[in-house]
Amino acid sequence: MIVLGIESSCDETGVAIVKDGKKVLANLVASSLKLHRRHGGVIPEIASRMQLESIAGIFTKAMRCAKIKPEQIDLVAVTTHPGLPGSLMVGIAFAKALALSLGKPILGVNHIYSHVYANLLCHGKIKLPVIALVVSGGHTSLLHIKDFSKIQILGQTRDDACGEAFDKVAKLMGLGYPGGPLIEKMAKGGNKHKIKFACWEMNSQLDFSFSGIKTAVLYYLKDKKSGIKLKKDLAASFQESAINVLVKKSLLACKRKNVRNLLIGGGVAANSCLRQKFMASAKAAGINCFFPNIDLCMDNAAMIAGFGGCLYKRGARSDLYLNM
Ligand code: KG4
Ligand code: ZN
Repeated sequence: MIVLGIESSCDETGVAIVKDGKKVLANLVASSLKLHRRHGGVIPEIASRMQLESIAGIFTKAMRCAKIKPEQIDLVAVTTHPGLPGSLMVGIAFAKALALSLGKPILGVNHIYSHVYANLLCHGKIKLPVIALVVSGGHTSLLHIKDFSKIQILGQTRDDACGEAFDKVAKLMGLGYPGGPLIEKMAKGGNKHKIKFACWEMNSQLDFSFSGIKTAVLYYLKDKKSGIKLKKDLAASFQESAINVLVKKSLLACKRKNVRNLLIGGGVAANSCLRQKFMASAKAAGINCFFPNIDLCMDNAAMIAGFGGCLYKRGARSDLYLNM
């Protein structure tokens, strides 16, 4: 089965072709990131206008790259939620027009769950049940997956998402946007034990909160003279405490549900300290830990096509009234 995936939930416009649930024939992503940089965050209006301008061209390029003709597409899978409304609308409208003109089925797909599915594109079949952690710019969720069509949310952030906290801390430190990779770079050579930051512990132990740590960074920076040494220690200490809480709660979820496979996904999963820490801690706890390749951690359409194909096979259907 050849699935066309379309992803336009934030600043990226992604079009991908995935064959038989795992072979990625094309995976193209165009980002309007540089237009948002000077604003320190994504401006929805700019994102959707760029998506509108670029989506048809990216689709044509993806067809060429995958060496297929539009008539060979068996299913059009598109992100319907969550995301920026204007951006989602562009992808959904394009997907509907394509499905209608080709006479092919269309399926709406959840963006967060697709981040988990990116692991299956990289590692082949992974035995369910799994615990999954999605850490992105908009979401931090712990999931229990016995079946991809029935996903249970065990915990999520009560305020900022983990990636959002990286972005905001980087902004406070004057590093730029997006903050995750910049914090990671700055943290290299810094003393991660220098400053003790702690993420607030919730009553519900599998929920997260990252807004307090961001405020702690703000207060820490207030009276300090900024120097490169302080910035390095601050970035390393913040990164350490944000990652520690992710590891701790993910392993707790595995223990509570008696699950041995842990899948991580989302943009923050590209962080090399996070990957090392998860690997080491999971190994010590006897848990198998999986990450997507770096390019599939970020927003992309291959994960949408892969997950869409998986759900379609399990009987999921949408129609042309599909919406956000
Ligand atoms: O999954 P994603 O591409 O988009 C959303 O669905 O939100 O994630 C983007 C987020 C941003 O907050 C970005 O700062 C963060 O992922 N990120 C990182 C790293 N690379 C991207 N965070 C920490 N370390 C990184 N290396
Ligand atoms: Zn995402």
